[in-house]
Amino acid sequence: MTTKRSIKNKVEKTMKIAPSILSADFSKLGEEIRAVEDSADLIHVDVMDGHFVPNITLGPCVLASLKSRLPMDVHLMIESPEKFIDEFAKAGADYITIHAEVCNNLKACINQIKEAGCKAGVSIKPATPVSDIIDILPYLDLILVMTVEPGFGGQELIPAALEKIQMLRKHIDTNNLKTLIEADGGINEKTARIVAEAGVDIAVAGSAVYNKQDYKQAILALKNHN
Ligand code: DX5
Ligand code: ZN
Repeated sequence: MTTKRSIKNKVEKTMKIAPSILSADFSKLGEEIRAVEDSADLIHVDVMDGHFVPNITLGPCVLASLKSRLPMDVHLMIESPEKFIDEFAKAGADYITIHAEVCNNLKACINQIKEAGCKAGVSIKPATPVSDIIDILPYLDLILVMTVEPGFGGQELIPAALEKIQMLRKHIDTNNLKTLIEADGGINEKTARIVAEAGVDIAVAGSAVYNKQDYKQAILALKNHN
């Protein structure tokens, strides 16, 4: 698993951590966000529509009520994302990530996100190959590799997704692209090291942060994953 490239990645940069508020206490989201601001790097907001995934979470009005000094990393697990990109941008999203599986015209959606003033991300589910998005990587700020089936927190990481991360790392480095690789799902103190070694820049962690007593200690444990 440990390659020359992965060692280089590990030595050169610390993996950033984006706590997912999906596992936070929804009755006090503001407090839950403030509690991670000193140790986390981004706030990950999971938006689910009950169609693309079998779960429903929150929409633009809830996002608008959430304030943070960290970037808001909004993961849209919804069908027809083009209908909602502008609203999420207005509501305070810094990154907007849409799913490759629901877009007929990915390039148009990416442009829409950028025109709305946000950084653009595309996510792929575990069964979606890297080849489906390789051509659009140069236009992306972020590629989000799902390491579980989207829809719920607290699942186990699917090891096959690591190969996709390694392929992306190689392609991005070889072509000098600036696209960040984010991994989402099943990342905890045991799996943080393997995703970091595969070349991930940002790890999303829901239950591994918000199901712990001490959020700061949990985040530091994910960063110092040795
Ligand atoms: C799942 C979401 C994830 C989720 C991760 O569909 O996209 O962001 O919150 O939860 P954990 O870290 O518990 O696997
Ligand atoms: Zn997510």
